[in-house]
Amino acid sequence: MTEEQVKKATDHFANLVREQLERVERMKHEPDWTDFSSLDKIIIGACSGDGIGPAITEAAIIVLNFLLDSEIKSGKVEIRRIDGLTIENRVKVMKAIPDDVLAELKECHTILKGPTTTPWKGNKYGWPNIESANVSMRRELDLFANVRPVRVPEKNIDWMFYRENTEGAYVLGSKGVDVSDDLAVDFKVITNQGSERIIRAAFEYASKNNINKVTVVTKANVVKRTDGKFLAMAEQVAKEYPQVEWDDWYIDIMTAKLIDPARQSSFRVITAPNLYGDIITDEAAQIQGGLGTAGAANIGKRYSMFEAVHGSALKMVDEGREKYADPTSMIKAAAMLLNHIGYTDESAKLDRALDICSQYEKKMVVTGRDTGVTGEEMAKYIIETIKSPDLEQKWKGYQ
Ligand code: IPM
Ligand code: MN
Repeated sequence: MTEEQVKKATDHFANLVREQLERVERMKHEPDWTDFSSLDKIIIGACSGDGIGPAITEAAIIVLNFLLDSEIKSGKVEIRRIDGLTIENRVKVMKAIPDDVLAELKECHTILKGPTTTPWKGNKYGWPNIESANVSMRRELDLFANVRPVRVPEKNIDWMFYRENTEGAYVLGSKGVDVSDDLAVDFKVITNQGSERIIRAAFEYASKNNINKVTVVTKANVVKRTDGKFLAMAEQVAKEYPQVEWDDWYIDIMTAKLIDPARQSSFRVITAPNLYGDIITDEAAQIQGGLGTAGAANIGKRYSMFEAVHGSALKMVDEGREKYADPTSMIKAAAMLLNHIGYTDESAKLDRALDICSQYEKKMVVTGRDTGVTGEEMAKYIIETIKSPDLEQKWKGYQ
């Protein structure tokens, strides 16, 4: 019996190792970065997801339609709706992303993605515990950099997180093994290629923006092989950026230092393997005002995807409140998308308007219920703010 279990588990492990070795080979032959300025037409896939996803995605589309009006009319940009990424459709085919939806996504140059429900064991909806669509999309489109900005001007906090997005504890997160009833084993994977590209992206960002500080977060003192590799890679990459200082922290103390008023504003660009990055970016978003305020970019060399950091809030839908869901995170994601594809002016204006509407002026507030405005009304408020001729002055007045 035991030997059989060992054999089964080791065979399983052998297959995973083969897959990962193949992935390493693929990473060695990555395509070049997409050059958006050379495209005749940029296709933005608007993938609405499920739960509150369709409602908040719609709000972001209203804003994009406004900002890209002439580009859309001239045919330079197309916003293409992709509606099939719902939990119902995924469960029907028992796949994280149905094949037809994945094919549609791959026809776009960049994607704006609403939240998608990630089933969990024993959920009350009776959904099978299939893999997260997020995790799958990041892997399928090789979106290795999860870039999450967090700013709290009054505390002098200006953080840019570069979370590794395609390996670490996630890549085999659904491929662990139940060796016996008593023993479960999961696997964590770190590669030179995977670490190098994310760490380099963090250093590049720092050096391009004249930021003199990169912080690398691991638990290399305990998780010696994988985190050790990530940290060793950081040491190597850092040598190519002598003008950028760097330091490294362990994840436990890092979570403490992010809320330490004496230390928090000294962090600027932070890079970490997948799970640690997941955890500290939620913490950081909370410091900024909550997950609803955070947007995230998932960037690969060929594809990119921009999304809200939070989930699909099924409870709101169950209670019929989805139209009151806060679309700020999706609109912030849209601003990051615009910046990524080269519409930097439009992106900057949208950022300013978002700051004014949701942090300072607050003429309208979304509360998640009918005590506040709807996401659509919020989108319109943001558009009116963008239109104001003294947008920049207005914003400066609040600084
Ligand atoms: C995030 C989310 C996802 C993650 C979930 C939904 C799988 O928490 O984008 O941070 O853990 O990466
Ligand atoms: Mn998360």
